[in-house]
Formats: sequence, structure tokens, C-alpha cells
Amino acid sequence: MSEHIAFTPLTPGDREPVARLLHRSLVQWYESRLGQGARFGDSHEPFLLFPDVYEALDPGECVTARDSDGRILGVCFSHERETHVAIGIVSTAPEAGGRGIAKKMMSLVLDKARRLGKPARLVSSLMNLDSFSLYTRLGFVPGATFQDLLIAVPETGMTSPPPLGVEQVREARTGDVARIADFEFSQQGIRREKDFHFFLRNDAGSWHVLVSEDAKGRMNGFLGMSTHPSCTMIGPGVAADEQAAIALLWKALDGLRGRSLVFLAPCSSTGLVRTAYSWGARNVELHVAQSTAPDPSARGIVFPTFMPETA
Ligand SMILES: CC(C)(COP(=O)(O)OP(=O)(O)OC[C@H]1O[C@@H](n2cnc3c(N)ncnc32)[C@H](O)[C@@H]1OP(=O)(O)O)[C@@H](O)C(=O)NCCC(=O)NCCS
Repeated sequence: MSEHIAFTPLTPGDREPVARLLHRSLVQWYESRLGQGARFGDSHEPFLLFPDVYEALDPGECVTARDSDGRILGVCFSHERETHVAIGIVSTAPEAGGRGIAKKMMSLVLDKARRLGKPARLVSSLMNLDSFSLYTRLGFVPGATFQDLLIAVPETGMTSPPPLGVEQVREARTGDVARIADFEFSQQGIRREKDFHFFLRNDAGSWHVLVSEDAKGRMNGFLGMSTHPSCTMIGPGVAADEQAAIALLWKALDGLRGRSLVFLAPCSSTGLVRTAYSWGARNVELHVAQSTAPDPSARGIVFPTFMPETA
């Protein structure tokens, strides 16, 4: 980095330039490497959701990189939670790539995680060697792998019959928030109660949360989703077993009639993946969870998400 670049928090005036940067860098990267730029559309407007939601959820936590004219060259969102610091979307302007900008932004977040004594976590594309390399060079260790599955839900709802356990799935209520956070902690060793409060308040973005309980009323899964028109995506969620995971997923999809969307399923959950195939889902990408301190005791079936990327 020869010229002077400043690393500063996001300001309200950055909303539009950040959305343009996210859109431009993703289109350019996916088009030049994979010929798939078109999947991000031709407008930056859906990407306004990222600064809007992330500044409402974690104000002041985003790091930007700016040149001497104040132009944004890079952005890195992070989310401090009870047990960890999550890193969300990271992006460098195509013309400024390969100059250490993403590395510096990430290092600032990692310094914060070290000061807090917490691991940093993220989900990284296995089709993007630039980001995979960036993260692993910084000390992240790859863990569970996920299939990004694209599915179109018919206008009339799911055509396959309701799977076992659907009758145990219901809408989450405000009083469930702590139980959802505790359940995730019991399975995955991470806690992020703030996110579940945010979803149920539902005043920035558009969210929906389902929970599943066993016959004794004990929680055995939850599944959140972003239903905003700029980003319909299932997750975050965790289920104790495949039956609960499939029931939650079916119920979530049945509520998203007429929409096409992506969800991430663990590659190792073969029953869940085969069920998704039988519903017409198609693989579109692969991701891997990465952490600076992987937890070998993590269990359960995880549905990660990119909105919000707080796991
Ligand atoms: C991924 C992205 C953020 C990288 O940004 P960048 O500013 O160009 O990255 P940096 O220059 O800071 O660092 C890249 C590092 O990865 C290393 N690297 C890149 N490709 C590598 C490879 N194939 N093998 C090993 N290392 C590699 C570089 O050497 C560099 O490390 P070093 O400085 O220690 O040598 C950028 O390409 C981008 O915005 N892509 C589009 C959006 C995106 O995909 N974001 C990530 C997912 S949300």
C-alpha cells in the first residue's frame, strides 16, 4: 500500500457508496473468475440492505478503507457477540485489489477479537480462492462444509407432503429469545441473543423465526429467515437432528411461496441434502465455516446465512 489509506468506521453518508462497492466487487469477481457476475443483478439497490441492517444491528462496528479523497475502497462488517466475533461480508474495490486492503481491515477486527479474548468466525466460499486464502493466511481454520442450495417454491406451496415433525414447528415469540440463544449455545457453543431480539423486533430488514419443540416441550431446533425482497434467504438456524431440520426447512419454504431462494445445508447431513434434492433444490456454490479457534464439541445441524452473517 503506497498511497495513504485511512481505516475508519462507517458513517450515515456511506450507505450508498458501500452498497455500490459491494455490488461492483461481487459482480466483477464472480464474472472475471466464474463467468457468473449476472447472479448479483444489475442494480446496487438490493445491497443497501447490508449497511442498513448491519448499522441497525451493530452500529459503529464496520471498518471501511478510504483513499485520500475519502472514496471508499474497502468494507469489512463485523459483529461482536457473547461468545465470538463474527465477520460478515468483506469487499475491496476491484481496482484496489491485491494491495493488502482486505488484510488490513480484517486485521483490525482480529485485533479487537484478541483484545476481547474471543474467537473470530466466518463462512467462506470454497469457489473463491482469494477470500479463502486471505482468511486462512490470517489464522482461520476451515471446518464444516455447506452446500448452497437454490430452490423455487411454487405459488401454491410445497408439493411434497409435510415431513414428520412439522406439527412440532411453530412461530417464535418474544419469550423464546433466551431459549433460542441457549439452545444454539448447547449445540454449537456460540451465543448471540441480540440477533434473535433483533429478528423478533423486526424494525430493520424483514425477519421470521420458527422454533421446533419435542413432545416434552424442549426446544430441538430453530430457523430464522430474511424475507426482505432484497434478500430472501433461510438461516440462521440449528436443529438437534435431521428430522427437526427437515421439518423446520419444509415449514420455512412453505411460507415463502412463489419465491426462489438459497439456503446452506451441511454437506455431512446427507438425509437433509437428499430431501432437499427431492424437493427440486440445486447446488449453486459451496461454503466452509472458518474459525480462529474451532470448537471440536460443536454438534447439531446448522443453517448458516449471509444476512445477517453473525455466526
Ligand atoms: C476477496 C477480497 C476481499 C480480497 O481483497 P484484497 O484487498 O484484494 O485482498 P488483500 O490484498 O488484502 O489480501 C489477499 C491475500 O490473499 C493472498 N492470496 C490471494 N490468492 C491466493 C492464493 N491463491 N493462494 C495463497 N494466497 C493467496 C494474497 O497473497 C494476500 O495475502 P498476503 O498479503 O499475505 O500476500 C476481494 O477480492 C473482493 O472484494 N472480492 C469480491 C468480494 C468477495 O468475494 N468477498 C469475500 C466474500 S464475502
